[in-house]
Amino acid sequence: MDDATPQTGELVVAGGEHIPPLLRAIEQRLRAEAVGYGAPLAQYGEATIAAGGKRLRPLLLLLCAGPPANELQSEALVRAGAAIELVHSATLVHDDVLDEADLRRGKPTIVSLAGREAAVATGDLLFARAFATITESGNPRSVELLSDACSALARGELLQRADGWNTEIGRDRYLQRCELKTARLFEAACAIGTNVAGQPPELAPFGRAIGIAFQVLDDVLDVSGPAERTGKQRGTDLLDGTVTLPLIIAREIDPTIERLELRGIDSAAAAESLCDRIAASGALEQARAFALKLVDDAKLGLPAELDDRRRQSLELVADSVVARYS
Ligand code: IPE
Ligand code: IPE
Ligand code: MG
Ligand code: MG
Repeated sequence: MDDATPQTGELVVAGGEHIPPLLRAIEQRLRAEAVGYGAPLAQYGEATIAAGGKRLRPLLLLLCAGPPANELQSEALVRAGAAIELVHSATLVHDDVLDEADLRRGKPTIVSLAGREAAVATGDLLFARAFATITESGNPRSVELLSDACSALARGELLQRADGWNTEIGRDRYLQRCELKTARLFEAACAIGTNVAGQPPELAPFGRAIGIAFQVLDDVLDVSGPAERTGKQRGTDLLDGTVTLPLIIAREIDPTIERLELRGIDSAAAAESLCDRIAASGALEQARAFALKLVDDAKLGLPAELDDRRRQSLELVADSVVARYS
């Protein structure tokens, strides 16, 4: 990844001069972890890492930690940052198996290229390397924080399967899923960052709140597309029976959408057309407004004693969560 992509460039600058070299070191570490364990797994692991991504979780981890106090801390941050991105990448590879998704980061998914078995094994490898990497940082609390986030993630994915095709799902249940499958990893990024820096976990609630907003925006982008911008197929959630906030709101506004049987959406064309109808209902604006409010509250809730640099950079991260197109 270029350390100054349009998505993260401004955030990287705001974080301070120590951020770009740490991100570069994380990138090197990621590639080494993905390829060092034999072909053909290396091929898929490497492809996943090389396809890029915003690298938002390692960046958040670094911003929460602040400038490292010494070389040892700097190395621990690189390991922790690589580990959180490896976990994230593993969950994406597995998630694409569960969602039967064809496109990820603008490239064909591992499951679509190589089948379920190869994708499951690639995700397993990335998970295993994540924990080996974070263990090397010699900080058991960081390992525990990452492990807790993984457990939450798995529970979130299982809950999503249990809720599949059920259009009666309400906001509370939807938000519970967002928290488990996405926000807990954002929370872990913040808590691990401060933990490595020897500080209390006071930024964890901020991470959790922007993580929920992040998933709401992801669900908006699933409906709005286009694939050329998001790198993912439009309407994937509708096709795999995942009821998200845009559909929940659209059902409240438009009775024809409320009456609709989700199982009838069985082709990319049908999903596109329902996406258009959800967008036309005004549900996307309402969902965006919901995410914006979460982000505003998260910024207001940042600890009063936080130094200016960290406050400003974290506020920018929070804004980027709701002002993104991929
Ligand atoms: C996608 O995460 C999965 C969700 C939690 C919604 P990102 O949008 O951060 O994915 P990449 O890493 O940038 O591809
Ligand atoms: C987030 O949900 C998936 C994970 C947390 C792994 P989605 O299923 O919406 O994520 P995308 O859209 O496939 O990236
Ligand atoms: Mg998915
Ligand atoms: Mg999605």
